Amino acid sequence: MSKRTIVKLPGDGIGREVLEETIRVLDAAGFEADYVEADIGWEFWKKEGNPLPQRTLDLLEKHKVALFGAITSKPKDQAASELCEELQGKGLVYSSPIVGLRQHFNLDICIRPCKAYTGNPLNFIRRGKNGGIEEPEVDVVVFRQNTEGLYGGVEWSDPPTQVYDALMTHPKMSKNFGDVPKDELSVSTRIFSKKATERILTSAFEYARKHGYKSVTVCEKPNVIRETSGMMLKLAQVMQKEKYPEIWLNNTNIDAQMMWLTKNPENYGVMVAGNMFGDIISDGFAGLIGGLGFACSANLGEEVSVFEPTHGSAPKYADYETSIVNPIAMVASACMMLDHINEKEISAKIQKAIAEVISEGKVRTYDMMKMSGSPEVLSNGAASTKEMADALISKL
Ligand code: NAI
Ligand code: MG
Repeated sequence: MSKRTIVKLPGDGIGREVLEETIRVLDAAGFEADYVEADIGWEFWKKEGNPLPQRTLDLLEKHKVALFGAITSKPKDQAASELCEELQGKGLVYSSPIVGLRQHFNLDICIRPCKAYTGNPLNFIRRGKNGGIEEPEVDVVVFRQNTEGLYGGVEWSDPPTQVYDALMTHPKMSKNFGDVPKDELSVSTRIFSKKATERILTSAFEYARKHGYKSVTVCEKPNVIRETSGMMLKLAQVMQKEKYPEIWLNNTNIDAQMMWLTKNPENYGVMVAGNMFGDIISDGFAGLIGGLGFACSANLGEEVSVFEPTHGSAPKYADYETSIVNPIAMVASACMMLDHINEKEISAKIQKAIAEVISEGKVRTYDMMKMSGSPEVLSNGAASTKEMADALISKL
C-alpha cells in the first residue's frame, strides 16, 4: 500500500516547534507517511501579500489532510505596515489564514475535546462538601460551528445604503438606532444556515452516541438571540426526538454556562454551539484541564480536514534557543488526525504515552510546573519542548 501524504503547515513561532516534535512522535509510534510542507503565515504575508498562497490550497485540495501548527495575526494597519517595500500602498488587506482555510474548504465542524489527564497538576480542583479538596472528572467534547455566525465576516462600518435601508425596515432598528448617523454605525451579523446548523448538531449527536456520552448540551442564548440560537435549539429538539431518544438533550445559556463550568464540570459531556460561543466554551473547559498546552482540535469538512492545537504562535517564546512550550496540545491534535484517518491503534498508543508521562510527573514543561515562561525555566527543572517529546517517545 502506498504511504499516506500529510500536508504539514508549520506556520509561525512556536507552531513550527510543536509540529516538528509531533512528527518525531508520529514517526516513533510507527505512523508511516510522507509529509509535504506548505507555506502559511506571516512570512508569506510580508513577502507576497498573502498568508495563504494558492499553492498551499492546491496541496490541501490534493492530499486532503493537514497538520497545522499556529500562525501570527496582527491588526489590519500594523499588518499593512509590515509588508515588503514593493507591496506597500497596493491596498492589500490582511486576513487570518486559518479562518481563510476554514472558509475555503468549508471546514464547518470544529471538535475540541477537553478531557483531564490523571495527575496533571493543572487540573481544576474545588472545595468539596466536607471542606477537603476534590478534583471533578472533566470529560467534555465541544462541537463548534466553524464557518458562520459572528465570525462569518459579514460586517460593515458605515454600511452601504441598501444594507442600511434594509436594516431600517426592522422595527427594532428604526426604534433603537433610527437617529444614529449611518457613518457612526458598525454592524457585525450573526447568520446561521439551517444546513450548517443541522450538520454541527448531527456531528455532536453522532459523536455522543458513538462514544457513549449521555448528554448533548446546546449552549446558546435562545431566550434573547431568538432567531439564530432559537433555530439551533429547535432543530436539536426535533433531532433528539426523532433520531437520538437515548441521549439527554440539555440546553444552557452561554453566560450561565461560564459560571457552571467551574461549579460542576462533571455534569457535561458533548457541548454544541455556534462559532463564537463554541470558541468561548472550548477555552473555558480547556482551562479546567491545563489550558493551552493541552487544548487540541480538529477542523473537519466534507473532504478536507485540518488538525491543530488551539493555541497561537506565542511570539514571546518563538525565538528561544531551546523551545520551552508544551507540545502535548499538538501531539493530541495529531491523535485526532490518526483517529480520523482510521489509524486508531497508533493514536491509542500515543494517547497512552501522553497519559503515562503526565501521571508519572517526572517530565513537565514550564506550564505544568506553574512557572512563568522564560529561558531560565530549563535550569529550574522544566522540560523543553524536545525533552517532552523525547519522554513521549521513550514510552512508545
Ligand atoms: P497564544 O496562544 O499564542 O499564547 C498565549 C500564551 O499562552 C503564551 O504566551 C503562553 O504563555 C501560553 N501558551 C500558548 N501555547 C502554549 C504551549 N503550547 N505551551 C505552553 N504555554 C503556551 O496567544 P496570543 O499570545 O494571544 O497570540 C499570539 C499570536 O498567535 C497572535 O498573533 C494571534 O493572532 C495568534 N493566534 C493564532 C492562532 C492559530 O494559529 N490558530 C490561535 C490564537 C492566536
Ligand atoms: Mg479561541
